[in-house]
Amino acid sequence: MGEIRIENLDIVYKAEEGNSILDLNLENDVDHTNDCGGNCACSTCKIVVISGSENLSDQEEEERDILEAYGWNADEYRLACQCFVEEDGDIVLNLPDPE
Ligand code: FES
Repeated sequence: MGEIRIENLDIVYKAEEGNSILDLNLENDVDHTNDCGGNCACSTCKIVVISGSENLSDQEEEERDILEAYGWNADEYRLACQCFVEEDGDIVLNLPDPE
């Protein structure tokens, strides 16, 4: 099992495969905004993946569309509710301040 490190909050926990980053953060008591409840409809759960993106599910067109609809660069951000841990490896990310 790999680890998830939220660099700007100095939080580290074990990453269980098959779960989204949003769900893992909430399970680990990280205060992670998710206005649409993890339904790929709001962009408030956005994160910046610093390393380990190869351990995450690919970015789908729907995710890119939502990020861009809210004015975020889809090459720079991911939606935590749409990033699923698929491989056993470490992931480092930043959690931007809520909008
Ligand atoms: S929680 Fe709304 S897009 Fe992820």
